[in-house]
Amino acid sequence: MMQYVKLTRAHNRVAFDCGVESLNHFLKSVAREEADRDLGVTYVATRDGVSIEGYYTLASYSVQGEVFPPASRFSATRAIPVILLGKLAVDASLHGKGFGAQLLFQALYDCQRVADIVDALENAIPFYKKYGFLPLTDDEAHLYLTLKTIRRMQLRPTYETQ
Ligand SMILES: CC(C)(COP(=O)(O)OP(=O)(O)OC[C@H]1O[C@@H](n2cnc3c(N)ncnc32)[C@H](O)[C@@H]1OP(=O)(O)O)[C@@H](O)C(=O)NCCC(=O)NCCS
Repeated sequence: MMQYVKLTRAHNRVAFDCGVESLNHFLKSVAREEADRDLGVTYVATRDGVSIEGYYTLASYSVQGEVFPPASRFSATRAIPVILLGKLAVDASLHGKGFGAQLLFQALYDCQRVADIVDALENAIPFYKKYGFLPLTDDEAHLYLTLKTIRRMQLRPTYETQ
């Protein structure tokens, strides 16, 4: 069964070849360092826990509102926080078999699960909990809120400034 897990030293990065050298290089030489520096997280698709069938990288990012099409209704005057799907690649031996689409759907699934994480000051933890944030297990000052919960709040953009 295919597993989608965070890239670790145990994965065979050298054997991966998607046909695009810059994406091979990123996986081999940049991805782990980027994750260590909290700049982006790379997930690999693996059947046996070692070989890499494909990978994708997610990072937080922001985009100026003015570059979105008017129909998106994002404010043109603000930078919009987004999740950047910075990289996505499938080993060339698997191209054309529907696996790229599967990998893309897995990346989108990851994006919808956890929407927001705060690193709270000790005295502000109850404040975030009051609005539905739940503590992570590594540190009670790290709290998360899912997109599902945010949708239920039916927020309106009252926070916008002129
Ligand atoms: C692009 C890539 C991820 C696609 O993966 P894949 O497993 O070959 O694609 P799939 O078999 O899942 O294709 C799904 C659909 O997308 C289409 N498709 C695949 N690559 C496409 C492309 N480059 N342009 C347009 N359509 C494409 C397929 O024809 C298929 O359509 P269908 O369902 O109507 O038949 C893969 O070719 C790859 O890793 N390429 C090298 C790295 C790369 O370019 N990554 C993108 C960086 S942004």
